Amino acid sequence: MLATAIAAIPASPIVAIFDRATALRAAGRDLVDFSVGEPDFDTPDHICRAGAEAIANGSTRYTPTDGTATLKDAVRGKFARDNGLEFSRAEIVVGAGAKPLLATAMQTVVNPGEEVILTTPAWASHVGMIQLCGGAAAFVPTGGDDGFKLDAARLQAAITPATRMLLLCSPSNPTGAVYRAAELASLAEVLRGHPDILVMSDDLYEHIVFDDREFATLAAVAPDLRERILTVNGVSKAYAMTGWRIGYAGGPEWWTDGIRAVFSQTNGGPCSISQAAATAALDGPQDFLADWRETYRRRRDLALEGLARIEGLETATPEGAFYLLPHCGGLIGRKTPGGRVIGSSTDLAGYYLDAGIVVVPGAGFFRDPYFRMSVATSDDNIREGIRRMEAACAALS
Ligand SMILES: Cc1ncc(COP(=O)(O)O)c(C=O)c1O
Repeated sequence: MLATAIAAIPASPIVAIFDRATALRAAGRDLVDFSVGEPDFDTPDHICRAGAEAIANGSTRYTPTDGTATLKDAVRGKFARDNGLEFSRAEIVVGAGAKPLLATAMQTVVNPGEEVILTTPAWASHVGMIQLCGGAAAFVPTGGDDGFKLDAARLQAAITPATRMLLLCSPSNPTGAVYRAAELASLAEVLRGHPDILVMSDDLYEHIVFDDREFATLAAVAPDLRERILTVNGVSKAYAMTGWRIGYAGGPEWWTDGIRAVFSQTNGGPCSISQAAATAALDGPQDFLADWRETYRRRRDLALEGLARIEGLETATPEGAFYLLPHCGGLIGRKTPGGRVIGSSTDLAGYYLDAGIVVVPGAGFFRDPYFRMSVATSDDNIREGIRRMEAACAALS
């Protein structure tokens, strides 16, 4: 029998869609897949070469649990260059992806029963991490009207004596919302009145911000709070390195020490070869990031243009990341040609799947009725997927 904390974690409603998509693909069905959460670019050559060189020169052994000194220095350089944040080596910890880093960082500070404030629609794994600590997710629902963002009044209202942490994710998966520096400053003002609340800032999509928006992160906006902010980032989304599995965090030493202690007993150090590649990514040229950003923006606009033609869908313009989150309330209650009623975004995702399109239903993000579409795919796929979606929606009565 599973342990209580694990057994309490509900099966993801998304899994059923993925399982069906996998079965359809295996049966030879042509699907346009909008569910992927990773860049479709290849890892740049100079990064791959650094990985290959690490193998050739024998960098194939255990590294320190929290990353090599070389990579930690590259991370420190990145935080200083991009965010104006200064950290000592001891204030940096590297993990095998941002995901385990976020989960372990949470595990080191959240006690059973304590609350973590986060907005919905939320990334499902953020919620799962809270549950694994025995913590409670204190959801603040957001929508198109508030730009999917928390403000000072709603943060204040969400705080209870049990609040342990605020979890920020900007640019957001799945909403694409990007906090401005001034908005973070107003959240910081609330946090100053609650010295026991910690903050985790998930900055994974930092480099994917559109329309001249400036990326901002709380630790830089409110340096007086630095003793209680952990800034988490990684190379997956920025450098198309999802398979290399390197994430990193900068924060107060008491917190990074906690993460190191857990990693030393569980994960060990991340892959030595990937660390060499990540060092090359952070220290190497950054100019291609602007080209990639422009490609995502173009695809976002292409998808938005198509979605606007579909009656029943309303899609806010995401300011960052590579997801669109259409609101599908206008399609709920309609009937498919086969006579099934679309009662939720999960039903809609199932119907889209029959039409050859894979999307992630909003139930997986704890807020309905929405579905998520990734535009980390080709223009042709976007055009074809939207064409299918338009035809499928037009067939509803
Ligand atoms: C918001 C967010 N944070 C973290 C991650 C995980 O990143 P990594 O590949 O470094 O584990 C993801 C991946 O989808 C994400 O969307």
